[in-house]
Parts: sequence; structure tokens; C-alpha cells
Amino acid sequence: MSRYWSAVVHGLTPYVPGEQPKLANLVKLNTNENPYGPSPKVLDAVRAEAADTLRLYPDPNSDRLRAGIAAYHGVTAEHVFVGNGSDEVLAHAFMALLRHERPILFPDISYSFYPVYCGLYEIAHRTIPLAASFEICVDDYLVPNGGIVFPNPNAPTGRLLALAEIERLLAGNPDSVVVIDEAYIDFGGESAVPLVAHHPQLLVIRTLSKSHALAGLRVGYAIGQPHLVEALNRVKDSFNSYPLDRFAQAGALASIEDRVYFESICAKVVATRTRLVAAMQTLGFEVLPSAANFIFARHPAHDGAALAAALRERSIIVRHFRSPERIAPFLRITVGTDAQCDALVGALRALC
Ligand SMILES: Cc1ncc(COP(=O)(O)O)c(C=O)c1O
Repeated sequence: MSRYWSAVVHGLTPYVPGEQPKLANLVKLNTNENPYGPSPKVLDAVRAEAADTLRLYPDPNSDRLRAGIAAYHGVTAEHVFVGNGSDEVLAHAFMALLRHERPILFPDISYSFYPVYCGLYEIAHRTIPLAASFEICVDDYLVPNGGIVFPNPNAPTGRLLALAEIERLLAGNPDSVVVIDEAYIDFGGESAVPLVAHHPQLLVIRTLSKSHALAGLRVGYAIGQPHLVEALNRVKDSFNSYPLDRFAQAGALASIEDRVYFESICAKVVATRTRLVAAMQTLGFEVLPSAANFIFARHPAHDGAALAAALRERSIIVRHFRSPERIAPFLRITVGTDAQCDALVGALRALC
């Protein structure tokens, strides 16, 4: 019945999210979720919203949450845009700020949602190959463009670009928007948010899905100068005025305010990452330096797809990408608890 479809829909290649299997007792290391639960204060805040007030629409502007995020980052609320997960914030940024005559630029190995947004919004793009070491080379982006977007740390490689390099990119690219997707920055990188004050073309996008352990709540946000935020609001209010429900606004605010808890779970993930990398290297894996809550690793003697399938038979799920070909030997493994990572290493020891 596809004759009812619009021409755009015929041409779409939608994003394929990591699997969310319904089976119990899996060691689930495939979608970069946090192995620890959110702050107890988040759960209290969400429970408090289960009240008669649910009959009322939520605040369309998420004012309290935006004020909390602004205080956390030392900016004003006019610099903050919130959305239903950073995927939605990204989508609005593509529509509002990256849809120009010239093609936008992003790495050939990067978050695979970017080309999907280009397809949906009919945005021309050009991919820039990562270096052989899987690093982003800023010089390659110092060319005329309609905008630039990449994650820092990059996904699925986990490699971090130094803040000084982002500053160099901004200095050489004053005329189009640079979107830095900081989904994983809290696990070891330096945020570009302080650069926003001096760079009118910089938009930094963040999520509570990873470091705040709130993938199920769907909250992401962007920090940029007010003229960029206004563009995002124009798109948002042409699409859905209430992207964050009452639970999401209250829970996200409680999480942002419970800095001690959030930093403590990040520190645990980082400590486990160090342990996991060492154990994988002992098994002969090459592991790219990771500043994220996942690692990207390959074994010189074993095929990536075969390893992922063998792990699955042992109820351990990791992510494998068949393309581009350069990353087909790799596994992307979310850093879980120490016990989950021990189970993974035990299974790999038997396989490698
Ligand atoms: C680089 C990157 N950006 C954005 C997202 C989207 O996160 P969310 O929509 O849960 O905020 C992800 C999720 O995996 C990601 O890897």
C-alpha cells in the first residue's frame, strides 16, 4: 500500500536503534545505557508528578528545567533549549540551523542518525574520512560548508577531540553553524559549553540518557547563544509544543540538581572502563582510547560479526556495525558494571 506514501517517505532510510531485547538475564552492553539507576531524588520527583495535575498540559517552555540546566552550566536560561532526547534536539538543529545551500560536513564514521536527518530534511552532506587512527582532523573541515556536526567524544569510536582543536575549528569556520554533540562528554572530556559565550555559531547538544542514567525519560538539551536557541524554538513550536511531559521535566531537573550522585556514577563507569580496557588488551584486543561509556575494540585474529554472534549465544549483547567496512572488525561495547564486564571478558577468553 506504499502508493499512499509521500515521495519523501519513499526515499527514507530510517535509523536502526540498538536492539532492546525482551529477554531477562541478558548482559546488555549494546546501547550505551548507564548500568546504574538514576538518582533516588529523580525517582521521588517523578513519583510526585503522578497526581491529579496530569490532566493539565506541562509547561511548554520547561522553564524550571531550563533554569536548572542554565545554573549548572553558568549561562542564562535564554541559552538553553530542551527536547525529547538529544535526538529530537539534533533533528531540530538540522532543520533550523544546518539546512542551507552548501553541504554540511560530518565524519564518515560517526553517529548514524546524522545522514538520516539529512534524508528526512533533504539536506546535502559530505562525509569527511577520519584519520587512520580514527581521529577527527580539524584541517579537513576548514573548507566552505553549510554547517558541521560531530559527536565529541565521537561515536562509535569513543575518541575525544581536544577543546583547543574545537576552538581552531570555530576560528576557521565563522560563517556556518558548528554542532558539537556531547552525548558522552561527562565520561572524560572537556565540554565546549564555555566556548559558547565567544562563538555565535556554536551549538552544544547534550543528553541525560547516558551520564544521568535517564535514557528512559527522554531528555536532551542544547546550549547556544539566544539567536540559535530562537531558531530551535521556531522549529519546535511548529512541530510539538509539549515535547517534555511532566515526569520528564521534574525528573530531569532533580537529576541536574543532584550533582554529587551523577558525578559518582560517572566515576564508577570510568573506573570500570579502565579495568575493562586492560582486560581486553590482555586478551589481545586493540582498543581505541575511549573518553566515553563504551569502548571500540577489535581482535587481530577474530571477525567482529562472528564474535558478536558468539557472545549473543552466551546472552551477552554488544553492538556490531557491518558498514562502513573499516569498522566491521570492531565491537562497540558499553561499559557496564564490573560484574557485567567480567562476564564479557570471561566469555571472550573462551572465544579468543
Ligand atoms: C552521539 C549520540 N548522539 C545522540 C544520541 C541520542 O541520545 P538521546 O536521544 O537518548 O538523548 C546518541 C544515542 O545513542 C548518540 O550516540
